[in-house]
Amino acid sequence: MGDVYILGIESSCDETAAAVVRSGEEVVSNVVYSQIATHQPYGGVVPELASREHLRAIVPVVRKALEDAGRTYDSIDALAVTQGPGLAGALLVGLSYAKALAYALSRPLIAVNHLEGHIHAVLLEERQNANRELDFPVLALVVSGGHTHLFLAERKANGWVYHDVGHTRDDAAGEAFDKVAKLLELGYPGGPIIDCLAKHGDPEAVKFPFSQIKHRDRNPQNRYNTDERRVDFSYSGIKTAVVRYVETHHMRASIDGRRRKLPPTNHPSQEDVLAVCEPQTLDLVASFQRAMVNDLTSKTLLAAQEHSAATLLVTGGVAANSQLREVFEREAAQQGLPVYFPSRKLSTDNAAMIAAAAYPRFLAGEFADGDVSAEAGLKLR
Ligand code: KG4
Ligand code: ZN
Repeated sequence: MGDVYILGIESSCDETAAAVVRSGEEVVSNVVYSQIATHQPYGGVVPELASREHLRAIVPVVRKALEDAGRTYDSIDALAVTQGPGLAGALLVGLSYAKALAYALSRPLIAVNHLEGHIHAVLLEERQNANRELDFPVLALVVSGGHTHLFLAERKANGWVYHDVGHTRDDAAGEAFDKVAKLLELGYPGGPIIDCLAKHGDPEAVKFPFSQIKHRDRNPQNRYNTDERRVDFSYSGIKTAVVRYVETHHMRASIDGRRRKLPPTNHPSQEDVLAVCEPQTLDLVASFQRAMVNDLTSKTLLAAQEHSAATLLVTGGVAANSQLREVFEREAAQQGLPVYFPSRKLSTDNAAMIAAAAYPRFLAGEFADGDVSAEAGLKLR
């Protein structure tokens, strides 16, 4: 088969994105319109505002993706769109637009799971770097603002199948970064700013205990769940521990002072925030990040051993974290396990990953029909 050009569209959360990818292996264009400035004053994504912004951005973003790729609508072979999981109203904008465009152009539409997209962000870039051979089974940690999931992936015919071997029981890891940043008045999103500030603090200053969550799943249908190999996560406790630390260490006044100096509507830079953080805050942030990274890496590496994984993929917004990358690289190497991350640009939400995940489905002829609908709670299998 010759080259296949897929136009991907992503609108599951607070990024409106479109991209053209050639044959699942080359990013020809990649446009991401981030709504961060809209949500910043609220310290988190406001679903109604997200839908409105997607409506505003979708047409120019798709047009720009085609323009950057030097392609016309007619020269696209298929469309791919995020079906879920995500915010229902936000998903609906991308899906409705993609459906209409596919119909108007008489091209097939491929519905993609956002989490599979994150996994394929890594595969796309590895193929782009001429690394085509991954050993199976692959263990993928998808860690973002909405998800903390471990999937064991296997090849099946042209495509992939996924087994859920662990996930968060409450908050996602990125959500914990965002909530702690909000609590400490550090701005939104929390991950990038905490990543930056943590370099200036003492990660040993505050101890955060994590419990080991391993349990026997009672569903006998799934052989991946019937034994004690599940590894689950939980991140609401650490947020409460930070709240308690702030109270018992009388940090309120300094947090209020920061809010006055840095109103979110001014969109402060990382340097501005660093300038108004005293050592106590920097130590707290560094210790929080250390605890998060230790928990994510130790549980993932444990799961890799339990499932005899041959390759590890770490993807999603939190995979951009510099300490997480460092620790994974060091510790996976000690286990003799190859570990792959997407570039920072493809770690956070984008549409290139959606177009890449659609390629094997295009080859298999797995097209969505006209009544395909957005699914906020779509599962990956
Ligand atoms: O994948 P993504 O763009 O959207 C979701 O699917 O959720 O991930 C966004 C999340 C946010 O919670 C953000 O704080 C986090 O990824 N994030 C980071 C970093 N960059 C983004 N977390 C830790 N360190 C980072 N450098
Ligand atoms: Zn995502």
